[in-house]
Amino acid sequence: MGHKFAELAFTGAVKNIQSDQGSRNSHARMEVGDDYNYVLGPNEAQFIAARDSFYMATVSETGWPYVQHRGGPVGFVKILDDKTLGFADFRGIRQYVSMGNISQNDRVSLFFMDYPNKTRLKLLGRVQTLGASELDTQQKLSLGDRYKARVERGLLITVEAFDWNCPQHITPRFTSAEADYEVSSLQTTILELKAKLRAKNARN
Ligand SMILES: Cc1cc2nc3c(=O)[nH]c(=O)nc-3n(C[C@H](O)[C@H](O)[C@H](O)COP(=O)(O)O)c2cc1C
Repeated sequence: MGHKFAELAFTGAVKNIQSDQGSRNSHARMEVGDDYNYVLGPNEAQFIAARDSFYMATVSETGWPYVQHRGGPVGFVKILDDKTLGFADFRGIRQYVSMGNISQNDRVSLFFMDYPNKTRLKLLGRVQTLGASELDTQQKLSLGDRYKARVERGLLITVEAFDWNCPQHITPRFTSAEADYEVSSLQTTILELKAKLRAKNARN
């Protein structure tokens, strides 16, 4: 069936619009041959392991899509094997919209952004919930003492398909740590230039 993300995302209605808009033929080429884009490779694993947040969409029992942010220290999303990723889910304001949706429909869409490098990865999967006490014993999702948050549960996602998107319209944004890194290298350069200027002035 070819590209697994296309197989899941290109529904009949989607294909009809592709046909109307004249893009169907090029997209249909993705749908032939051996299956691909459903097993995480080194690129996907490395990209996900470097993220400190992502967006997770669930589907409500009334058909509404719901998107929420999930965040933590870099690497809080763990790659458990080439079909499974998971993370510790923290306590929030206890509306439990995502959890309620997941209890009725295990489909999720995850969206990972790397703003500085203008790269994004979208992933479709099926989610399973682990109790907080199962985090350490069953899966290595626990963050230990290195992050202050109350873990309510673990979420395990079995990957069904993924796709990379182009960098178009992504404005680079930097975390304070990333900005500090850039600024510190500029500060080093300024100090070096100042020292050279002082030495030059002293010689004159
Ligand atoms: C003090 C506090 C206030 C929050 N306020 C909101 C809020 O007003 N709206 C919201 O969507 N999330 C808010 N959050 C974050 C959510 O509670 C958190 O992301 C939660 O996991 C979302 O669950 P959900 O995916 O079921 O929406 C808040 C978190 C905290 C700790």
